[in-house]
Amino acid sequence: MQMKDLLRTADLSRADVDLLLATASDFAKDPLKASTALANRTVAIYMTKPSTRTRLASETAVAHLGGTPIFLRGDDLQLGRGETIEDTARIISGYASALIVRTFAQSDVNELGRAASVPVINALTDDDHPTQLLADWITIQEKFGKDTSGRKFVYLGDGNNMSHAWLTMGAIMGAHVVAATPAGKWAPDPKIVAQAQDIAKSTGATIEITNDPISAAKDASVLYTDVWMSMGDPESDRLEKMKILKPFAVTSELMKLTVKDSIFMHCLPAHRGEEVSADVIDGPSSVVWREALHRRTTIQSLLYHLVRGEIKGR
Ligand code: CP
Ligand code: NVA
Repeated sequence: MQMKDLLRTADLSRADVDLLLATASDFAKDPLKASTALANRTVAIYMTKPSTRTRLASETAVAHLGGTPIFLRGDDLQLGRGETIEDTARIISGYASALIVRTFAQSDVNELGRAASVPVINALTDDDHPTQLLADWITIQEKFGKDTSGRKFVYLGDGNNMSHAWLTMGAIMGAHVVAATPAGKWAPDPKIVAQAQDIAKSTGATIEITNDPISAAKDASVLYTDVWMSMGDPESDRLEKMKILKPFAVTSELMKLTVKDSIFMHCLPAHRGEEVSADVIDGPSSVVWREALHRRTTIQSLLYHLVRGEIKGR
C-alpha cells in the first residue's frame, strides 16, 4: 500500500523509517544528490505557529530538490477568513506538489490530508511532531548504530507533542523508551501511550511511563527534553507548570546517572535554566546541533519519497 501523507508518527512503519533515514544519510553527505527531483515544482509550507528550524529545513530541503517553496503564514490564506479546509486543500493541490503544515489541532492536519490530492506533511501539531523524530532517530543511529538493544532512551519533562512522538517512534523502532513526566495534567495522553504499547507488541519495544526522573535517568543512553511551555499553552499555567516540572530538568547531576557514552538531545528551542542547564546543552554530551541539522536531511528525504509514492505506512 502507498501512504500519501505523513500526518502522525504512528503512520510510519519500521521499513519506512529505515528507507527515510538511509536517504537522509545520503542527503547529509550530498545535499544536491537529487537536485532535479522537484524541478519546476512548488511545495506549500503553511504555518500558524512560529518556527525556526522546521521552516528553514523545509525551505532548504525543497531548494536542494530543485523546487520552490511557497511559505504561507497563518493569516496569508483565506482559510483564516472562513474558507473551508476542503476548498483550500483543493487549490493547494492544483498548484503545489506537497503541503507542509504546522498548526494547533491534529484534526485540521488530518482533514487537510483527506482533502488534498498531494502529500500533506505534519510539521507539528499540539499532539505530534513526526518530522522531528526522523531527525532524532538518525542522530541516535549515528551515535549508537542501528542495533539499540540494551539501551534506554529517556524523555523527561512535559507530556506534550514531543513526548508522544518520542514514545511512538521508539515503539516503531523496537527500542526501550521512557517518558518521565509529572502525573496528571502534564502526563502524556493515555491514548497515545496505549497506541505505543500496541505498536510495541509487534516490534519488541519496551514502553515505560514513570513520574520519577532519577530512576528514569539511571543507565540511560539518551536524555531528551523539550520546552516546558509549548506554543499555544495557556500563560496562566506557567507558574504552576514550572514548579511541577522542576524535578524533571536535565542537569549535570542527572547526566551523571546515565551510561558513559550517553548523549543529551533537545528538539529546540531551548530555555537554559528551565528544562536544561547550560552546562548540559552546551557541554560535550550534547548533540543538539547535529540533531537540528538533520531536520533538513530528513525533511528532504521525506519529501523525496512521499512525492514518489514510496512510503508504505504501517
Ligand atoms: N524543533 C522544531 O520544530 O523547531 P522550530 O519550532 O524552530 O521549527
Ligand atoms: N513542544 C514544543 C515543541 C517545539 C518544537 C511546542 O509545541 O511548542
